[in-house]
Amino acid sequence: MRWGKPMIRIIGICLAVILTTILIGVRGIYAQSDQRATVMERQALMKSALKSYFPLLAVYNGKSTNLTKAGEAARKLKDDMAKSLALFSEGTAKDQVPGSRAKPEIWSEASDFEAAGNVVISSVDKLIEILASGDVEAFKVQFSLVEQACLGCHEFKPSGGGKFRFGK
Ligand code: HEC
Repeated sequence: MRWGKPMIRIIGICLAVILTTILIGVRGIYAQSDQRATVMERQALMKSALKSYFPLLAVYNGKSTNLTKAGEAARKLKDDMAKSLALFSEGTAKDQVPGSRAKPEIWSEASDFEAAGNVVISSVDKLIEILASGDVEAFKVQFSLVEQACLGCHEFKPSGGGKFRFGK
């Protein structure tokens, strides 16, 4: 077989097609690992928010009287929660990204999700204010409202589901 000009052109076109296919594939893999990273980050932040919940629970149960520590925990909880809620980008539901437990309702009922997010942030804001005032009775009432705000999206137990999270 002679390597004439048409043959070289065909090989050139084939190479171009193969390279383009590889590039598209690599971009797809990167996009997917980006989304996987987003899911892992928001889950870690939610977990961290739950960690901050316990020093607050201790005050609620009368096991701690350290309102300064509780105030710090409440501020951290709010921070983590706000950061986590900002990471629910479209295309990161359970059936789209491995490991995600996010329900599609987060996007199909986006205003409800946003409202539930606003409720938790504003309820923690109020808790921070109350902690600064030192009123433990008012704290107890408000702490229950913070718990309710979490339940607006999902149950407390890690395997639990809810309006916006699939159970395990
Ligand atoms: C606006 C809705 C919303 C609110 C309010 C909310 N969460 Fe979440 N949370 C979610 C969703 C959705 C997931 C699942 C995320 C995923 O799997 O990608 C989740 C996951 C979690 C997880 C599991 C993280 C993991 O490792 O998989 C914990 C723990 C958690 N939330 C704690 C809390 C606590 C504590 C509160 C209240 C202070 C709270 N959440 C309030 C929506 C919410």
